[in-house]
Amino acid sequence: MSALVEIRDVTKTFGTFTALDHVTLEINQGEFMTFLGPSGCGKTTCLRLISGFEQPTTGEVFIAGREVSNDPPYKRNVNQVFQSYALFPHLTVRENIAFGLRMKRLPAADIAAKTDWAIGMTSLQGMEDRKPAQLSGGQRQRVALARAIVCEPQVLLLDEPLSALDAKLRTQMRSELKNLQKRLGITFVFVTHDQEEALSMSDRIAVMNKGRVEQIGTAAEIYHHPRTEFVAGFIGETNIVEAEVLERNSGRLRCRLEGGLELWIKGNGSGEGAKILVSVRPEKIRLHRAPPEQPRDNLFEARINSEIFKGAVDDLTIVTTGGLELGALLANEGATGLEFHEGEQVWCSIHPDDISLLTREA
Ligand SMILES: Nc1ncnc2c1ncn2[C@@H]1O[C@H](COP(=O)(O)OP(=O)(O)OP(=O)(O)O)[C@@H](O)[C@H]1O
Ligand SMILES: [Mg+2]
Repeated sequence: MSALVEIRDVTKTFGTFTALDHVTLEINQGEFMTFLGPSGCGKTTCLRLISGFEQPTTGEVFIAGREVSNDPPYKRNVNQVFQSYALFPHLTVRENIAFGLRMKRLPAADIAAKTDWAIGMTSLQGMEDRKPAQLSGGQRQRVALARAIVCEPQVLLLDEPLSALDAKLRTQMRSELKNLQKRLGITFVFVTHDQEEALSMSDRIAVMNKGRVEQIGTAAEIYHHPRTEFVAGFIGETNIVEAEVLERNSGRLRCRLEGGLELWIKGNGSGEGAKILVSVRPEKIRLHRAPPEQPRDNLFEARINSEIFKGAVDDLTIVTTGGLELGALLANEGATGLEFHEGEQVWCSIHPDDISLLTREA
């Protein structure tokens, strides 16, 4: 599959400040791509390079195989939905949606048909004659979407489009937006600093930090196999532990973690004696009352230091014999499940594939 949008080694500076630092990424046709990262990491700047509101300082931007790095927005078949919606307050819903088509001077019958289609797509039937002030936040959001899709852009850019909505509506709009994208088959580039939003909607996520793309992958890849200290810490909960490589053996490394705990982890990039950083998600630490009958990788003893009941899960802190403290999460299975309490001795195991080797922050 060839990329619909390609950002090739782009750096963007504002005066002496580097907002984007050698960013390279490809977005495929029909894909829901999300830029995720903390405030100021360069998400909006990256979006504006695609829309044409910014030009790269160095590097190139391609859309559908054509270089557009210095083309103005109107020469690109993209459309952007802004956080503030930017609706015209004096126009009705229908007039707002039809506005872009009028500017293109399409025949009246075409405008009416396309506008009806966009109204249907965004479930705005019955509200055509209202003004924006007579709509709820979610309905205004849909008008902004309808106005963007009515021009049938190749790429739709959405900059934190849900941030003005309350928590409940936000969650509801997530699935609406995802469904709309599937039905339209349009490529969406979505910006958010909300990891749950990113994980639940995207085909792929580009995690950004300080103007750089740290990792690109599906939600599952990024969650289960974070590659950098930043990604591991930014998405979900995790234990990040320093370790030293003791031995390499066919794609696995034997490592000594803080507190003397020795574990096998998947990986072969580091040699003996290398100081590394590893990440273990709390739910990947398996707990056993007694040593399991089947041999297990990475089996060790620990004590439950604290236990907090959180409904669906038990949130535990365990301490290894050598004094390493780790967070562990245990699904609460009710009457048939295992329960662990403060002070108990337990056996723990971690599959080597469930430990990620991390690159440290520069
Ligand atoms: N026109 C500009 N002039 C100077 N600095 C800018 C300009 N536009 C953006 N920046 C800086 O570039 C950095 C990245 O900005 P950007 O708007 O891309 O961040 P963001 O990831 O979208 O953040 P947020 O989540 O807060 O919207 C910020 O430090 C910002 O201050
Ligand atoms: Mg922004």
